[in-house]
Amino acid sequence: MANAVENTPVPLCVLISGRGSNLRAIGEAVAAGRLRAVIRLVVSNRADAAGLEWSRGQGIETLALPHQDYPSVEAYDEALVQALKARGVRLVCLAGFMRILGPVFCKAFPQAVLNVHPSLLPSFPGAAAQAEALAHGVKVSGVTVHFVTPELDAGPIIMQAAVPVRDDDTYETLSTRILVEEHRVYPEAIQRIIAGGWRVDGRRVVTNPVSET
Ligand code: GAR
Repeated sequence: MANAVENTPVPLCVLISGRGSNLRAIGEAVAAGRLRAVIRLVVSNRADAAGLEWSRGQGIETLALPHQDYPSVEAYDEALVQALKARGVRLVCLAGFMRILGPVFCKAFPQAVLNVHPSLLPSFPGAAAQAEALAHGVKVSGVTVHFVTPELDAGPIIMQAAVPVRDDDTYETLSTRILVEEHRVYPEAIQRIIAGGWRVDGRRVVTNPVSET
């Protein structure tokens, strides 16, 4: 993603595996003018993902790309890159996409692949973040939006928000409160990246100093 001010809506692809509530939050932010982007394509590795149905209802192009059809992560990445480049996609947002993307994909979209994760990374990476937070007994969990790198849930952090863990929380109640924050933070983080004026300094995503002219 070119780190420059964008004047035209940025073509996004959202990758999902299921429900797609973060996808809807992104769509609502676009519709409300809070996100200067257009959802060009929604891809799911599962053909039965509910988010695909929602996308079709919105007139958004969808693509089911079942991972079982590909012999390796590299082959899957290549197919995905080809589909996205053919549609002029510039920014890729993972929203509950439960597959690893490898170096082939990450290199094709440098600093242009984002993910939302339901914990305060680096605590509790992986697919069971809320359950692991409860099992560990942390008092605060939350949401992280980060750049995607080939290492699982380990890329530079763009935004985080904390969610307190209550004594009577269950997996469902904690996940629901975290999800509310995901829907608030993810579109805002995407817009920050689109707006430009940032750089990645080591592991840190920092705002560029305002140049004096
Ligand atoms: C969200 O909670 C998202 O953070 C999580 O899956 C859920 C998808 O919900 N992603 C991960 O755990 C990735 N490691 P959604 O389909 O309703 O957006």
